[in-house]
Amino acid sequence: MSDTQTSDPVIARHDQYMTLNYPRFAITMVEGSGCRLTDAEGNGYLDLFSGFGAGILGHCHADLVAAGTKQMNKLWHVGNLLHTKPQTRLAEHIAEKGFGGRSFFSHSGADANEAAVKLARLYGKQNPGNATHAFGRFKVISTTRSFHGRSFATMGATGNEAVRRGFEPLLPGFVNVPYNDLAAVEAELDETAIAIIVEPIQGEGGVHVPDETYLPKLRKLCDERDLLLVCDEVWTGCGRTGKYFAYQHFGVEPDVMTLGKAVGCGLPVGVMCAGPKAADCFDTAKMGRVTHATTLGGNCVSMAVAARLFEVLDSDNLIERAALAGEQVKSRLLAFAEKADAVAEVRGKGLFIGVELAEPIAADVVQTCLERGVLLNATQGNVVRLAPPLIVTDEELDEGLSVLEGVLTG
Ligand SMILES: Cc1ncc(COP(=O)(O)O)c(C=O)c1O
Repeated sequence: MSDTQTSDPVIARHDQYMTLNYPRFAITMVEGSGCRLTDAEGNGYLDLFSGFGAGILGHCHADLVAAGTKQMNKLWHVGNLLHTKPQTRLAEHIAEKGFGGRSFFSHSGADANEAAVKLARLYGKQNPGNATHAFGRFKVISTTRSFHGRSFATMGATGNEAVRRGFEPLLPGFVNVPYNDLAAVEAELDETAIAIIVEPIQGEGGVHVPDETYLPKLRKLCDERDLLLVCDEVWTGCGRTGKYFAYQHFGVEPDVMTLGKAVGCGLPVGVMCAGPKAADCFDTAKMGRVTHATTLGGNCVSMAVAARLFEVLDSDNLIERAALAGEQVKSRLLAFAEKADAVAEVRGKGLFIGVELAEPIAADVVQTCLERGVLLNATQGNVVRLAPPLIVTDEELDEGLSVLEGVLTG
């Protein structure tokens, strides 16, 4: 079928041939460059949401295009019975920027978390403590309003009933407790508990930043009880919040970190990085069998692009840029909130910002901003989210915020 110059035929074919699981806007995007998108009719948009944060360097960043193209012309995929340079390079970058650790590569945030849960269960089998349960220690504690994915294990971890409804029976072994509430976690620490999985800043839940002491206290509990602290950095990783990884705001290190979204810059990459406490559970020689694997995880092209991301973050000082620009955006929105009844709260760190509205009209606000050429996102009914590419300029932020403020005022 030939390509089309208008949106409608594309949408009609979509409606005929694709599952209708995504509530899409009736727009077909055909091109992107930096923070700008162009639709099939030639209309331009300012992208301040980066495709759920994945386009952390914007669209078609020259360095990523070069890295991906070079690798495409060299080697795509050989399978994980052989070594390849881009995989090792990415693993090294993640260890150096993070807490050391060993990386397992997959394709999405959900399957990175799936790997983390499998690792935790193996760790529980190897370290049963005083557990008398037939399965030893296996319970994973997560938080309400969290999002960890839509696979069976990660649905259990995800603290959102709407994500799970209709898929029962769910995988057992998960409990959700309120976020930012240490006592609620403590109440779940029975002999079967093995891990706590937490977003250092809740993303889908509405950009909630916990108290400074929350993560350190979770760390302490995990140390005292020999539990794994799993930080889900799928939203917050790779510079988004003004640090390489958001746990670094809180002065602690996790035992396991998961990445998705931004790490692939728009290509499908998931990472489960495990520190020395548990990484051996995925060590074939030590376990006497392959305990986890995936065919395309770590394919050369995705890895070459992801590895380049960390180099560009450093060469272009984008971590500092995210921190600084985020503060500027927040100050402006806080000043706006002082005068505008429409805004209840402004939250976030770096270039991950949530504007909680006084009314549950976030979807309408986002729709009107889109009609005015600015792409934002609505979550939880009353939160407008901004997660621009880290390369966004002051002028682009000014343009986007002026549109948002105009819509909120009008
Ligand atoms: C914190 C977090 N973890 C995991 C996921 C799942 O990632 P994916 O959609 O790539 O499976 C998401 C997706 O929004 C997320 O926000």
